[in-house]
Amino acid sequence: MTRLLPEKGLEARKVLETLASYASIDMDPSSARLWGHIYEPGVEEVWKVALEAYALYQKKNMLDPTVYPSIIRIENELVSAVASLMGGGEGVVGNFTGGGTESIMLAVKAARDYYWSHRGRGTVPEIVLPITAHPAFHKAAHYLGLKTIVTPVDPETLQADVDAIAEKVSDRTAMVVGSAPNYPYGVIDPIREMGELAEDKGLWLHVDACIGFILPFLRMLGEPIPEYDFKVPGVSSLSTDLHKYGYSPKGASVILYRSKELRIHQLFSYSRWPGYPLVNTVVLSSRPAGNLAAAWAVLNYLGVEGYRRLAEKVLEARRTLEEQLPRLGFQVMGKPQAGILAFTSTEVNVFKLAQRMAEKGWYIQVQPGSIHLDLKPSIHLTIAPRHCDVVGQMLEDLARAKEEVRGHPLPPENALRFLQEAGLASLDPGELEKAMPRLLERLGLTGEALPKDMSLINELMYLMPPEMVEQVLSLVMNELYSP
Ligand SMILES: Cc1ncc(COP(=O)(O)O)c(C=O)c1O
Repeated sequence: MTRLLPEKGLEARKVLETLASYASIDMDPSSARLWGHIYEPGVEEVWKVALEAYALYQKKNMLDPTVYPSIIRIENELVSAVASLMGGGEGVVGNFTGGGTESIMLAVKAARDYYWSHRGRGTVPEIVLPITAHPAFHKAAHYLGLKTIVTPVDPETLQADVDAIAEKVSDRTAMVVGSAPNYPYGVIDPIREMGELAEDKGLWLHVDACIGFILPFLRMLGEPIPEYDFKVPGVSSLSTDLHKYGYSPKGASVILYRSKELRIHQLFSYSRWPGYPLVNTVVLSSRPAGNLAAAWAVLNYLGVEGYRRLAEKVLEARRTLEEQLPRLGFQVMGKPQAGILAFTSTEVNVFKLAQRMAEKGWYIQVQPGSIHLDLKPSIHLTIAPRHCDVVGQMLEDLARAKEEVRGHPLPPENALRFLQEAGLASLDPGELEKAMPRLLERLGLTGEALPKDMSLINELMYLMPPEMVEQVLSLVMNELYSP
């Protein structure tokens, strides 16, 4: 259905009322019932400070800082404060970006151009990364023409296997990646050992600390956080997001480099056209200075003490989960070291469990895993300070939900039955592809909204070949965003 702009503009009140009515179908983003996507500090003043700072800078464009020189000052102050928290001393430089993906995209571009400048353009540069690294690296490689080589993790600790990485690096390697911590399990990779490998072989090591902004504060609280940052000499670049455990509004991350000599490869300049000479530090050109101002304001408003206090709450909630989940018969995966925890079950279908929790008003994130990659289905919890108040209640509901779904077959039985009924039990990619429109229809994936019960769909993602899952995900998105 085509929706046209109103011929005559609406009253501001009417516009805002309409938006508010649209928003009523969403989960409340400040709700402690959401255990993913949000990092709610539970301190209203943080949002107020951010909003006012945004408003102060919302009209200013970061495209041309010569027009608004205070933007350079704010960005440098922010980057310098973040760098010092991430072990960066003299010489470490960086930029403010719109998010983890943009920071990673820039680091990959810088590493690629650095590689080219030293080795020429004769080969396709490679990124060697553990299976737990965020897909943003694969996306960056896809956009920038690099190849990714995925290595396994230790099956017990779920940390990157450094020997496996050492086997895969070669003179084609432009970047090696470690996470601090990784998203799926909240486990920190052995960055010191990876740094030694990088130094030994002259490789670019990027540390993805996008969800690691909490780590310095956990360390201050006495947590045994291993070295993961610029204190490790082999680290060339590091990304860390302020819109996660920095509690800034979305659109705030920092990419850091060991030196200006590395960072220069991140930049892009162009002057061979009739318009203004273009030089960009980041991917976007025009962008609001509001996000930067808001992030700077939140950093300064909370200060070290504020962040330490919030980290303490996250830690308290995590400890309760680590203690109670095994008592309820769940298995915590690896040893969580930051604000993320994943668990699985050998007794109940975790897809059904998440669905039952959704019916009880909780969002817990399903990680479908893959039978083809030997990745168990699991439940991911991103712990925010706010969760401290509700963790007990959530665990009680989880215990109830577990009993309620007991007896449902374990994955992938439901998915297999579904495919059998659809005459596709062989999982032959050709057959599946032909049957795709029919399958999407039967799963309720062809409309403007996703089905309420996602448990079968999640289970199918566990069962189907990853290439097929990726194809379906794109098809579904293509449908969802068709007005
Ligand atoms: C470890 C890690 N890296 C990168 C990203 C991508 O960040 P963004 O969603 O801000 O682009 C995430 C997002 O959760 C992450 O957890």
